[in-house]
Amino acid sequence: MRFLDLIEKKREGFELNEEEIKFWIDGFVAGTIPDYQVSALLMAIIFKGMNAAETTSLTLAMMNSGDILDLSDIKGIKVDKHSTGGVGDKTSLVLGPLVASLGAKVAKMSGRGLGHTGGTVDKLESIKGYNVAISKEDFIKQVDSIGVAIVGQSGNLVPADKKLYALRDVTGTVPSIPLIASSIMSKKLASGADTILLDVKYGDGAFMDTPQQALILTKAMIDIGVMMKRDVRALITDMNLPLGNAVGNALEVKEAIATLNGKGPADLTELCVKAGAVMLIQAKIFDDLDLAEAALIKQLHNGQAISKFIEMVKAQGGDPDQILNPDLLPHSLHLTDIKSDQRGYISSMHTTKLGHLAMVLGAGRATKVDVVNPAVGFVLNKKTGDFVDVGDSLGTIHHDTELKQDWIHEFKEAFVLSDQPIDKVSLIYDRL
Ligand code: URA
Repeated sequence: MRFLDLIEKKREGFELNEEEIKFWIDGFVAGTIPDYQVSALLMAIIFKGMNAAETTSLTLAMMNSGDILDLSDIKGIKVDKHSTGGVGDKTSLVLGPLVASLGAKVAKMSGRGLGHTGGTVDKLESIKGYNVAISKEDFIKQVDSIGVAIVGQSGNLVPADKKLYALRDVTGTVPSIPLIASSIMSKKLASGADTILLDVKYGDGAFMDTPQQALILTKAMIDIGVMMKRDVRALITDMNLPLGNAVGNALEVKEAIATLNGKGPADLTELCVKAGAVMLIQAKIFDDLDLAEAALIKQLHNGQAISKFIEMVKAQGGDPDQILNPDLLPHSLHLTDIKSDQRGYISSMHTTKLGHLAMVLGAGRATKVDVVNPAVGFVLNKKTGDFVDVGDSLGTIHHDTELKQDWIHEFKEAFVLSDQPIDKVSLIYDRL
């Protein structure tokens, strides 16, 4: 088989078969097919697309490119969730222990942040001693005994995606539904869980601009799940504003702790309860969404959810005192309150700008090798739909170096004001 023929076939809009896709992925991982040829194929896929069969073949070829986790030693149904990434998205920190407190088994592998979205692993590492790299055996033992572990992705899980994503990132070939769907699903399937809940985000700061596009991506991922006989469900959620109020690693852990104590922001709490209810149905612990939601809300207020988080942190070597007293978490040297110089209703927010600001403050990475600062970020005091007067606080920037005028400018520019009140958009657009 010649790779050039596959490029030309896709360029002309024809379907690639399973054998051809396997040849591509195996050759790319082995280094026998060069980056420049794969880049050409990726660009052809951007323009010509891939059908459901091709997308599944690509997912399988990628999934089989490295280790596949065997979770069969963990008793019960193993549930997993995945968010397509957002600014301030700390749901995994809350959801894992929350559903585990009702008996679900959560074996979660999470990523590090890159660009304007933060990573769960970076957030957890702001807890002193928390080990995101426990052995596979300890990971399995921990989930079996306490119900939840959140770790970083193991070294050899879907190496094809690592290589392919790095190439997509620098060749303008990220925004393709089959490429995104296969990238996400290959990792989820290789992580070994029985069920997957997808939180597919749309809007400013998300991969999909509109809920309609998010729906198409969601359907592509559910189709892969059906072919692989996994229970895959999804929520489609709004990312036109950050989730919760805190953005930055330790700040987000603090907000997750507040949420697990029943004192979190309404949007984050709502998403965790709605997503948690679906996961409990998938785990066959509940068969009614309303009853599952009510049980989850109870766990947030009766101390069970936070206790499970503390249990997980302790099991992974983290300092439980920082969870009992979040003021002990890393904090920045300076806090600067940013005041509005306009009056009006916040009609929209530029989530990407805020994500970018968090990154330049040091909370995220511009390149993979950057080291994140756990303490920095910001906390919003106003969000879309709120009224602000001149002099009202829009939020507080937590920084370790001298504040730059650019940062203040970027923060203020993220708020778009209007004279008219606006209707708040519901956080959850659809459930599949
Ligand atoms: N997240 C992934 O893991 N892969 C993509 O291609 C896009 C988002």
